[in-house]
Amino acid sequence: MNRVYVCSCFGVTEQQVKKHAADGACTPRQIASACKAGTDCGSCVRRIQALLGRGDCPTRRSADERRAIATAGAGEAARAA
Ligand code: FES
Repeated sequence: MNRVYVCSCFGVTEQQVKKHAADGACTPRQIASACKAGTDCGSCVRRIQALLGRGDCPTRRSADERRAIATAGAGEAARAA
């Protein structure tokens, strides 16, 4: 069996991160909640983020949309002033 460790602090493998992602975790924080990966030294967080990629995450998408709306609103407010 080929085990590629992502988080050496907690012995979390790439396979485990992918399984948590398949189960609905779509941010490093949610992966940390599921298996503690990334909560000690933090050196694996970028790797976890890379494994998660920019997949279709409803939470992230709605946050991006809110940010876009807030940015557009700020621009209009600046023009009105
Ligand atoms: S390697 Fe993951 S928290 Fe240290």
